[in-house]
Amino acid sequence: MAMANTVDLVTAAQNGGYAVPAVNIVDDLSARAVVRAAEAAQSPIILQTSVKTVRSVGLTLLAAIARSAAQSVRVPVALHLDHCPDREVITQVIGAGWTSVLFDASDRSLEQARKETAEVVAEAHEAGVGVESEIENIIGVEDGVGSDEAKHSYSVGQLVEVAHETGTDMIAPQLGTAHGLYSAAPVLQFHRVESLRALTDLPVVLHGGTGLAASDFRRFVGAGISKINISTALKIAYMKAARTHLATAEATGKWEPVKMFDQISAAVTAVTLEHIDLFGSRGAATAKAVSA
Ligand code: 13P
Repeated sequence: MAMANTVDLVTAAQNGGYAVPAVNIVDDLSARAVVRAAEAAQSPIILQTSVKTVRSVGLTLLAAIARSAAQSVRVPVALHLDHCPDREVITQVIGAGWTSVLFDASDRSLEQARKETAEVVAEAHEAGVGVESEIENIIGVEDGVGSDEAKHSYSVGQLVEVAHETGTDMIAPQLGTAHGLYSAAPVLQFHRVESLRALTDLPVVLHGGTGLAASDFRRFVGAGISKINISTALKIAYMKAARTHLATAEATGKWEPVKMFDQISAAVTAVTLEHIDLFGSRGAATAKAVSA
C-alpha cells in the first residue's frame, strides 16, 4: 500500500479502542521485520525513526526503505519522526515523505514551546503531515535526545489549551513512564489519560512502552491511549539475536551475514507481534477506517 497517514491510523485506533504500535526502526532489516509482523497480524503500524537514525541511514535512503516496506504489504504503514527538537530536521523530513513528526519542545519555556509548536504545525499541515506535540519532558534519554530529570510539568488543562491553540494532532504527556529500561517500578498516571480524554478528542500518545506489564498496557489503552511507542524492546531483540548468531558463528567457524540477518529479523518480528497483541491492534487493519 502507499504510505498511510499517521493521524488517520491513530484516530481509527481511538475510535476502535486499541493503540497503534509505533516501533522505532534502525535500518532496513528492522523496518521490513516490523512491517512483516504487522502484515501477519493484520495490524496497522507506525514506523518511527529517531533523529539519530535519520542521521545514521540518511534522509533519502531511510524514506525509500519505509516507502518500499509499506508498498510490500497490504496493511497501512505510516512513517513518524520521533522526538525532534531541531526545526531543521523537521523541515527535512516533511520534505522527504514522513507522514508525521514529534516536535519535542520540552526543552523550551512554555511560551516558546507554544509559539514554535504553532509554527511547526503550520509548516507540517501545509504538507499534509501530522504533528505530535511534547511540551512536558518524558523522562529518559532516547537516542541522544531528552533528560533524566522532569524539567517541565504542566496541568492537564494547560496541555489541552496549548494543543488546541497550536492545532497539534496528537499529545505526548508525562504519564509516569520513561524511555529505556526501568530501574525501579514506575508510578503510572492512568488518571492523566482519562482527564485528557475528558477535555479533548485529540489522541494521546504513550511513550516509554518497553518494560510495562500487560496489565499496564491494558489500563492505558482502556483509559484512551491510541499510539504506543516501543524502541528499547526492539533494540534488545535485535542485538541479542545478533549476539546469539555470532556466538554460533564463532563456535562453528561459519560466517554467514545473511543467516544473521534472518535471525535478527525473526526476533524483531516476534517482539513486534507481542506488542501488537498487547495493544489490541491485531486484525484492525481489515477495518475500512484505516484509509491510506
Ligand atoms: P522505550 O525505549 O522505553 O520503548 O520508549 C520508546 C519511546 O517512547 C520512543 O519515543
